[in-house]
Amino acid sequence: MSAMSFEECVIRPVRAEEWKAAKELRLTALRDPVARLAYLDTYEEAVARPDSFWRERTANGARQFIAETADGRWVGNVAVLIEEAGTTDWAGSPVERRQGHLVGVYVAPGHRGSGLTKALFDAAVEWAWECGAERVRLIVHPENARALGFYRKAGFVESGVTVPPADRPEERELEMVLER
Ligand SMILES: CC(C)(COP(=O)(O)OP(=O)(O)OC[C@H]1O[C@@H](n2cnc3c(N)ncnc32)[C@H](O)[C@@H]1OP(=O)(O)O)[C@@H](O)C(=O)NCCC(=O)NCCS
Repeated sequence: MSAMSFEECVIRPVRAEEWKAAKELRLTALRDPVARLAYLDTYEEAVARPDSFWRERTANGARQFIAETADGRWVGNVAVLIEEAGTTDWAGSPVERRQGHLVGVYVAPGHRGSGLTKALFDAAVEWAWECGAERVRLIVHPENARALGFYRKAGFVESGVTVPPADRPEERELEMVLER
């Protein structure tokens, strides 16, 4: 497939009843060659989950933005969690300011380098600002060079905080932050 320009895609939030398409996009992302660096779960774990998991995740999980082609294919995903000041995050660290946390970042290979990732990020970051977030963060593996390159290009800066992935305590991932 030749690279398409991002103008040919619509960026929009996922609706609860679209859980099957959301599941398929997630399974596609989990089969990417860099999935081990990019995501905390695996294809094998995800594919074994019941429909109830995907229904619940799509209806009540993070706010999920997708990129959809004119013929209805889902080719990109970014999800936004809002973390409240005064709470503790998944790693047990205190959240000091209300912030957005971007997860599940994926763009299909034929659409990379086209500007689509930036358009998805713009939608996700804008939504976080509308929710009153004071900053937006994400976590990236230092060996995921293309993701790091994109995040830097999009204005994210390494905060100096590192976190071990839940299943690999010997490794460290980098927190990157975009200030409002
Ligand atoms: C991460 C991802 C969303 C980035 O989107 P993208 O459209 O590929 O990003 P772009 O091509 O616009 O930007 C990547 C930048 O990194 C650069 N880059 C690519 N490979 C690189 C490498 N090996 N080393 C350094 N920089 C690299 C590119 O040159 C580009 O910068 P440029 O536009 O200035 O040339 C996409 O590649 C993807 O879905 N990857 C698989 C899943 C993944 O890793 N998700 C992130 C989880 S944290």
